[in-house]
Amino acid sequence: MGGPLKVTQLTAKNPDEIRVVSISDAHMSPFNPKSWKANYWEHTRDGIQQVLNYAKKVQADAVIWPGDQYHLKTPARNPLYFVSETIDLLLSSGIPNYGIGGNHDFKMGSRDGLKGQPLEILIKSGVFKLLDDEELVITTGKTSVKIAGESYNHSKAEGCRDKKKDGADHLVVLGHFWFGQTTGEFFGEPMYGPDWLGKGEADIYDIGHHHLDQGIQHFDGKAYIVVGSISRTGSHSNDLERRPAASVLTFKGQNREINAIRPKVLPIGEALDLEVREKVKREEKEMKAFIENLKSTNLGAADPVQAIAELDLPKEVQDRALKYLEQAESE
Ligand SMILES: [Fe+2]
Repeated sequence: MGGPLKVTQLTAKNPDEIRVVSISDAHMSPFNPKSWKANYWEHTRDGIQQVLNYAKKVQADAVIWPGDQYHLKTPARNPLYFVSETIDLLLSSGIPNYGIGGNHDFKMGSRDGLKGQPLEILIKSGVFKLLDDEELVITTGKTSVKIAGESYNHSKAEGCRDKKKDGADHLVVLGHFWFGQTTGEFFGEPMYGPDWLGKGEADIYDIGHHHLDQGIQHFDGKAYIVVGSISRTGSHSNDLERRPAASVLTFKGQNREINAIRPKVLPIGEALDLEVREKVKREEKEMKAFIENLKSTNLGAADPVQAIAELDLPKEVQDRALKYLEQAESE
């Protein structure tokens, strides 16, 4: 990082309008999350494909991805055939893909942990351009839109707020962090609101991370796209209620418009086994409480894995707790 970024110039397909489609938190994975009974990958891919087909139909100039394109971090759980299928999916629209990485795309909380991840393959294949390295300017000759962004960086948004307009008519900034009505904290991590983000030069923040649909919000002439995840892994309770959305951004002269679009998806009861989901959530809660308890019992241990290993527990209980910790790190 540091130094001036490469800027790619693109001429808009339509003579007087720039169109961009955004897809957030795709969470692509070849494996079914625990509570899924339908085929998660086929279903998720189909939803994304519907959005990409729409982008192609309206001759969008770029598809933008504000992070968490992949679900699982472990390379062994992203087999080659699957990564290859994700490349095909992103290629299918014929539209360039630009975006950032989310916490699920990296090991260790920042893009320093890109090595060995499926997102790295997507970037190296040339199908996906990382905005940390290369910004995009789309122009009609009369109107210009700059698209910039910063990947997930330990839940911080400073890098996003610092992005510069550099003479463009509109600046879109992609970020992956918690967004709320006011700046503060969310589960011990920073959360940013329009009061803080609004001080930056961005006209539109396109924000991933929250899977909840918070819509498209407008404050003081700026827009915040927080329509949530295009997929439903089943781990968030809002997955049961919301219909996944993507968004379409159009720019004409000084005017801009943002609309949500929603692919057709299976009703949640056909996608997930709700009884299994209840059981999984209950077990997770119990395990979390159990591990918290262990941490406070065995204060001498540096980390929970050590704490579990040192305690006099039946092997089956130890194995279950260790497996939970391993999964928590991976997912
Ligand atoms: Fe996510």
